[in-house]
Amino acid sequence: MSDEIPQIGLGTWKNKGQETCAEAVEAALDAGYRHIDTAQIYGNERHVGEGLQNSDVPNDEVFVATKIWNNNLKYDKSGKKHHDDAYESALRSRDLLNVDTIDLLYVHWPAEDYGDGTLEALDRLYDEGVIENVGVSNFTPELVREAQRKLDAPLVANQVEMHPLLPQDEMLDFADDAGIDVVAYSPLGRGKALDLPEVQDVAEKHDATPAQVCVAWSIERGAKPIPKSENPDRIRENYGALDVSLDSDDVEKITSVDERERLIDPGFAPDW
Ligand code: A2P
Repeated sequence: MSDEIPQIGLGTWKNKGQETCAEAVEAALDAGYRHIDTAQIYGNERHVGEGLQNSDVPNDEVFVATKIWNNNLKYDKSGKKHHDDAYESALRSRDLLNVDTIDLLYVHWPAEDYGDGTLEALDRLYDEGVIENVGVSNFTPELVREAQRKLDAPLVANQVEMHPLLPQDEMLDFADDAGIDVVAYSPLGRGKALDLPEVQDVAEKHDATPAQVCVAWSIERGAKPIPKSENPDRIRENYGALDVSLDSDDVEKITSVDERERLIDPGFAPDW
């Protein structure tokens, strides 16, 4: 697998049902997706692994990303095995996903026991080839810079909420400077962005759907969106965004939507 994060990924948040999740992964690979995003907390790494196995697409052509949950961020260098240890939990994720290597392992949130030990565990996983790339998620620019300073391994991405209601201008500029990708989660604003008149106008102009426009808008701005769907038709529809080319007026129209809303903001979130 190349180091490059593919343009569109399948989000699997809340897709917990064994069959729906494995089928969604299979449908996505069939539609052309080569990036599947999951997390320990989603409780579906095993089902993602089943989808990968069931698909005709060879596993080594698929970029598989997962995230270490907040209560698994400690690192015990003495070698004792703890189930909540970042190193051990990554090995477990790899087993559940049934892959040789995890293409990208993120710290899900800079929360709970996140700290230098977490980054040391990631460096070890990287050195040992358990993971191909290190990423972070829900990090502020300051926290990304700090992680970059402390890690030996390169940091390739910050995965953040991004959609027309939260366009993340500063994060995109920062990521350019820092040499990392922005992976955009909830690029449809969990469905909320689909009703925006600006999105609908642009969709009509391009004979596309509002979801395709949201995904295309994300790509046009340099991010790597991971729309979540459990439905094979919508999974295919979202991938069709690659055929929609927005011009700068379209992008501007959507970026300058008046309404702003951060949809995912738990108590343990950083001070954004
Ligand atoms: P479903 O899984 O039933 O398709 P986001 O990626 O922004 O978090 O949005 C995910 C939400 O949007 C889910 O509720 C998902 O439902 C829905 N969704 C995904 N793709 C589409 C689409 N093409 N059209 C309408 N809703 C969609």
